[in-house]
Amino acid sequence: MAKQLQQFEYTVYEDITELNDADAWLLTEARDVTHHAYAPYSHFQVGAVARLANGEIIAGSNQENASFPVGLCAERVALAAAASVYPEVAIDTIAISYHNLNGDSSQPISPCGICRQSLAEVEMRQKEPIRLIMGGLSGRVIVVERANDLLPFAFSGEMLG
Ligand code: THU
Repeated sequence: MAKQLQQFEYTVYEDITELNDADAWLLTEARDVTHHAYAPYSHFQVGAVARLANGEIIAGSNQENASFPVGLCAERVALAAAASVYPEVAIDTIAISYHNLNGDSSQPISPCGICRQSLAEVEMRQKEPIRLIMGGLSGRVIVVERANDLLPFAFSGEMLG
């Protein structure tokens, strides 16, 4: 028997003004792209903007459906778009933000479990970490250096043999 401890480091910024210019720009894009969300059911509009290794920018927003489980999160829309347009190019960083039409938008967003699994797959595929910048429309911003840190014990294709 052996007990194990898993920890990870992340950075908390007081607000967007503490970020470097490139990261602040990306988070601003993510905030802007929340307006492209189609979220008539939850009224929770999410934007995710990826910066690729070649400098290209790919945006995604959540796209809901009257059949609720059909809806897509912003992160997975951005991942799918990036892989479709630039299949050979790694994603360097994704900024994620949201506009909660029902309430407050000042806490950093935290990607859902399905998106964490999707991010883990892309990280494994590209063999490069994906930084995540997680914010709201204002307030604190959290940066994690690799998406996989958010999903310890992620399921992976290796297990399929
Ligand atoms: N959503 C995202 O797009 N990303 C997240 O990180 C959290 C949740 C979406 C799914 C749904 O359309 C709405 O936000 C409320 O859950």
